[in-house]
Amino acid sequence: MRKTFLLFSSYLLAGCIIASAQKESQTTVNQFVVIANNPGPVISKDIYGHFSEHLGRCIYEGIWVGYDSKIPNTHGIRNDVLFALRELKIPNLRWPGGCFADTYHWKDGIGPQEKRASIINTHWGGVTEDNSFGTHEFMKLTELLGCDAYINGNVGSGTVREMAEWVEYLTSGSDSPMTRLRKENGREEPWKVKFFAIGNENWGCGGNMTAEYYTDVMRQFSTYLNNYGENRLYRVACGPSDYNVSWTETLMKDPASRSRFQGLSVHYYSLVDGWNNKGSATDFDERQWFQTMRANLQINEVIKGHAAIMDRYDPQKIKGIVVDEWGNWFNVEPGTNPGFLYQQNTLRDALSAAVHLNIFNHHAERVKVANLAQTVNVLQSVILTEGDKMVLTPTYHVFRMFRVHHDSRLLQSDLKCEDYVFGERKIPSLSASASVDKEGRVHISLANLNPNKPIVLACPVIGETFNKVTGEVLTADAINAYNTFEASDKVKPAAFNGHTFKNGVLTVTLPAKSIVVLELTK
Ligand code: AHR
Repeated sequence: MRKTFLLFSSYLLAGCIIASAQKESQTTVNQFVVIANNPGPVISKDIYGHFSEHLGRCIYEGIWVGYDSKIPNTHGIRNDVLFALRELKIPNLRWPGGCFADTYHWKDGIGPQEKRASIINTHWGGVTEDNSFGTHEFMKLTELLGCDAYINGNVGSGTVREMAEWVEYLTSGSDSPMTRLRKENGREEPWKVKFFAIGNENWGCGGNMTAEYYTDVMRQFSTYLNNYGENRLYRVACGPSDYNVSWTETLMKDPASRSRFQGLSVHYYSLVDGWNNKGSATDFDERQWFQTMRANLQINEVIKGHAAIMDRYDPQKIKGIVVDEWGNWFNVEPGTNPGFLYQQNTLRDALSAAVHLNIFNHHAERVKVANLAQTVNVLQSVILTEGDKMVLTPTYHVFRMFRVHHDSRLLQSDLKCEDYVFGERKIPSLSASASVDKEGRVHISLANLNPNKPIVLACPVIGETFNKVTGEVLTADAINAYNTFEASDKVKPAAFNGHTFKNGVLTVTLPAKSIVVLELTK
């Protein structure tokens, strides 16, 4: 009651401040009110996760170069990529797919490298997969990154026994054929595995199953995924794509089914004009920019749709939504293998990342994990490589700027802003979220989606007093600016000083097409 009253008073106060600010300026219509003294749910750091599939040059070349490579590496993992990913403090990494996961037989990827089976990667370019990157290499990668493992099991073409044995091989400390095999392969102690997915896109590449059939199969597989020792698996059931709420309903409605998983995956890719007309990643006009932003914002509706169903069966919000594939999907770069999904990454992708991450922050109560597709050289990557060269993409910089939200608590906020109008359509010009970390610092992440005009934003921060505001901005001259191996710093963050702080009201001038992250300290 007292809390509600305090909050109500805070809002009233905020309203007065905004009204007076508007009266003063006569023009300010953009406002982001932040209530700083009533922190909400924790924004799980796991929504800042990444995804690396055996697809194109993501694992091979992008991450794994092998022990004998001239490219500086640690246990076969290239150092430049490793150090860059460490800088992002990536919380979890999903592997080995994607569609590849439901063709992957983990025993092909253990033991002496020269004895490993070569297979055909049927989903992605039909290339030969020599399995030189397998379970031990992946777990070493997560150790070197200091992140949690998110392993995606094979339901589509695998067996219950195969999946159960993988979990035993990975996490059991008891004596058994699987743990003896692990030890023979050089790993004495069990690993910790936090997330384990029971198939991927089983409505499509993972077996073309109906929701009813998958639900039964998931129950069966899940029964044999044991928690060994202290390891507790967060089991992720294959969820829907986009707006397919009936898939969610089928998995959630029966208590015996929903008791078999902790998280439900949701996949959502942003497309400019549908799957048949994805457009170029670098050569686009304002219409395509607008369409991309519009598609990005729709993930909010997608999450709301699935969350509404989950709320009916799980009002305490115990089950998480796991958005383990999201991002922009454009045409591959001209001249590259269509099966490798290699695309450049521009300022547009940076704005897209900011929009998604702000939306995930707002859904902190339900969205527990999210993974950008994909880490290196595939779709909306944070890193691109070419031989021994590496470049950080604009999307990388957004993930670095947004690190401040990891495990912080969401602050209540209210955004009112002008529209960004293009032709007959409009979307909000701004995207924003705010959190408070364990040290009491408030972070506000803002994005101006309008590529044509700066926006002045009144930002009253209610309930706490702060003395200092610092910030970083990411923008560029052109909507399609991007970093290349020759010019790697075209799009990079800079210190931000487009703000004033007076009477508790923060006023921010956001450059056109920009992302700004502010830190407020006492
Ligand atoms: O990320 C590329 C592919 O997109 C994944 O393999 C699949 O799960 C999705 O359809």
